[in-house]
Amino acid sequence: MSAYQKLVTQGQDLFEQFLQEINQQNAQELAVKYLGKKGLFNQLAAQIKILTKEEKKDFGRELNQLKNKLESKLADYQKQDFASQVHQDLTMPGIQTKVGHLHPVSQAIEEISRIFEKIGFVRMSYPEVDWDYYVFAALNMPTNHPARDEWETFFVDQKAHPSLGKMVLTTHTSNGQVREMERVKGQLPIRMMNISRCYRRQSDNTHTQMFHQFEGLVIDKDINIQHLKGTIDYFAKEFFGPKTKSRIRPFHFKFTEPSFEVDFSCHICRGTGYIKDEHHHKINCRFCKSGWHEVGGAGMVHPNVLKAGGFDSNKYRGFAFGWGVERSYTLKQDLNIDDIRLFYSGNQEFLEQF
Ligand code: DAH
Repeated sequence: MSAYQKLVTQGQDLFEQFLQEINQQNAQELAVKYLGKKGLFNQLAAQIKILTKEEKKDFGRELNQLKNKLESKLADYQKQDFASQVHQDLTMPGIQTKVGHLHPVSQAIEEISRIFEKIGFVRMSYPEVDWDYYVFAALNMPTNHPARDEWETFFVDQKAHPSLGKMVLTTHTSNGQVREMERVKGQLPIRMMNISRCYRRQSDNTHTQMFHQFEGLVIDKDINIQHLKGTIDYFAKEFFGPKTKSRIRPFHFKFTEPSFEVDFSCHICRGTGYIKDEHHHKINCRFCKSGWHEVGGAGMVHPNVLKAGGFDSNKYRGFAFGWGVERSYTLKQDLNIDDIRLFYSGNQEFLEQF
């Protein structure tokens, strides 16, 4: 027998042997034994060097075929072998996939938007870095007016605009009021909702330097305080629960006349101002001020603000309201969040609860 024929026969024997072993050994061991670096296939292939040039070509082809056959058989076997090793216990509980969710503040924003959309408000957005004019001056607070001190403002290090003044980070969402009036160019009604970021130089357990407010503005003919009160009451019941009451108290804002502070009844003491301790004694509710939570401001749009937005205050009226998203959210039933800064701490344990 020629050297060439010997090698071809060895190749055939190798494949025969492989077929015999295939169902007896595990796939991994077989792969090493036959196709590993020092495996039987490579040992056979190494002998090619004893052949003549012409024979090498032919034997090379034989080797290729052999290798393909070995590989494909092995692949089939590996699949089978794997399946036979996976024992499935169908009574085992499944592995729950972790699912992400919106940040609680985003959830609150979505919820607030939906509540107001139902009664015809349209959500708009305006710059969150804006000119002094829209944030203060157009809202009846001329430069140097002391009322501005309430808003601890961040100023942007930029040249002031000749008529719009300095650039500031918006301290409240009320900058949207005159911007909206300018946008509609006299077309009424306005039923605008602005939910945006606000910034103030303050940080403690009820304040963060960046927070969110939502603002509503309605302008039309024959708008009066009852529309304002009705809207606030509707929101209170939708957002905090059907038993929640709202009240407005006289207050002072430069951009509304009359102005009010808005309170919602406390859900812990049900608006009574006291709870019972473990001995059934009445004690003051420590979550609220005598049954109420103060959440925001509201009022009838001041004639000067209507004028700044291009509306004749003898013909048209408006109401506006605005308050904090985070603050409102922390007052929601069953949430007991005593440090508002937790929202922005990136603390997973906190965030995963929502
Ligand atoms: N912008 C006020 C604040 O940040 C809240 C506010 C009060 C908004 C009265 C209004 C309003 O629209 O009419 O404290």
